[in-house]
Amino acid sequence: MAKQKNNLSASNPIGIFDSGIGGLTVANAITKLLPNEKLVYFGDIAHLPYGDKSADSIKYYGIRIAQFLLDQQCKIIVIACNTASALAYETIKDFVGNKAIVLNVIDPVVKVVAENKTTRHVGVIATKGTVRSDIYSKKITALRKDMKVSSLATPLLVSMIEEGFFNNKISRAVINSYLERPKLKKIDSLILACTHFPLIKPEIEEYYKHHMVIIDSAGVVASEVSETLKRNRLQTTLKKPKHHFYVSDYTDSFEKSTQFFFKGKITLEKADIWK
Ligand code: DGL
Repeated sequence: MAKQKNNLSASNPIGIFDSGIGGLTVANAITKLLPNEKLVYFGDIAHLPYGDKSADSIKYYGIRIAQFLLDQQCKIIVIACNTASALAYETIKDFVGNKAIVLNVIDPVVKVVAENKTTRHVGVIATKGTVRSDIYSKKITALRKDMKVSSLATPLLVSMIEEGFFNNKISRAVINSYLERPKLKKIDSLILACTHFPLIKPEIEEYYKHHMVIIDSAGVVASEVSETLKRNRLQTTLKKPKHHFYVSDYTDSFEKSTQFFFKGKITLEKADIWK
């Protein structure tokens, strides 16, 4: 049988997707660490939020988006959404096969947390879908039996952030009401297990008066991408790459909000991949 064509060539782009624009926090960290790599981003705004959807829907969306990113020749596909990483990573990886490398945002964070010997009790804030999957608890305790994991669904935070509500009175009230919950009372570290949450990291740090270890996926995942490229000899030699940012639905307000998530202005292109 003929060998399947794959996208594993250094000059090909890195594909990144999320339910919306939260994954731009990961894209931003990747461009900082790897400025020569070309990005193709897909934000599935038409189906936002993923946090409330069934696993079957997320798998279906994930496969269609992966196909789109494969068609754009992506060498790596980064699932820059915790919900999709929790519910659809294995499905997407099987679907993509040897055509590209698939990374999720959960495993690199789990590794960092498990390696921190001073952490005993970690809190996780995430969407309902990620919390229901119990994936952080399963993966962390598989590596560290002595660690306790307490997960709390914080569904209001995603829509609040997408609407541009952060760093103000309302966002502080919502954040405080979640962080005050008894479930998070005894934690010594907190995972921001949603790619939207780096935007409210300063407010969370403030709530804890800067005395809490707070881990978000953006920088950790960018390092994982960098190591994966090195390991597979897929680092590009291109200069000044032109990134592409696709969305499955488009509004002006989304284009404006992208500036909070991705430093520097970007233009969203609509790609209807659901036909
Ligand atoms: N950014 C997605 C995540 O990391 C969540 C947003 C959503 O609910 O769609 O889980």
